[in-house]
Amino acid sequence: AAVAHALGADYDVAFHDELPSTNARARDLAAEGATDTLVVAARQTGGRGRLDREWASPEGGIYASLLVRPDVPATHAPAYTLAAAVAVADAARSAGVDAGIKWPNDVLVPTDDGARKLCGVLTEMEGEADRVSWLVVGIGVNANVAREDLPETATSVLAETGPVERRALLAEVVDRFADLTADLDAVLPAWRDRALTLGREVRVETPGGTVEGTATDVEFPGTLVVETADGPVRVTAGDCEHLRP
Ligand code: BTN
Repeated sequence: AAVAHALGADYDVAFHDELPSTNARARDLAAEGATDTLVVAARQTGGRGRLDREWASPEGGIYASLLVRPDVPATHAPAYTLAAAVAVADAARSAGVDAGIKWPNDVLVPTDDGARKLCGVLTEMEGEADRVSWLVVGIGVNANVAREDLPETATSVLAETGPVERRALLAEVVDRFADLTADLDAVLPAWRDRALTLGREVRVETPGGTVEGTATDVEFPGTLVVETADGPVRVTAGDCEHLRP
């Protein structure tokens, strides 16, 4: 119970030494009717990232998925993903890491010639257009993982500032996420504060093609506005690349 409290009194917490994927476990729990549950694993054997990529999940990292059933339309789901990125960026900053967010939800640490990835968020959901049935927000943070054990483009709290108490960091993430999502209007201003993408030249690979220009703003629920040679283009999904450091 003490642990559950430290991780936000409103969630049931399920710790596992190992799971294929905390998102997959949270989806199974959703199918059984559960809600307000936090699934945590010390390591994953089949961690998944966005676009069906693998997510390296060695011991030392934070692998967590939050199952919630908010009373919102499915179109609001991106705001939850952005909120998770803000929550991790804030928690990383309080651990002394210079973390910011690349649209939509990558938490990065800027370097001289680019940036390295500290955390990713994978949101899955089910439901009708007018109301989601459940949302699973999966959060992977490279906490106490050596850089050698991570992909070339990644970094960790360990590599940036030294070891961190994972439970305390996760508790901060969960509390901040709960605060932000209690009032979705709070998400975008907080996201803008932490954004690395705004004001930058970007290239976004979207399902509808490549969009290139200056990222000028983000609009609810998480749409990126890109000022292109042909005027503003609004992007709701895609892979964003910052063109200049
Ligand atoms: C990304 O591609 O950036 C998203 C990575 C999300 C990884 C987390 S780790 C916990 C949860 N379980 C998974 O299998 N994936 C997410």
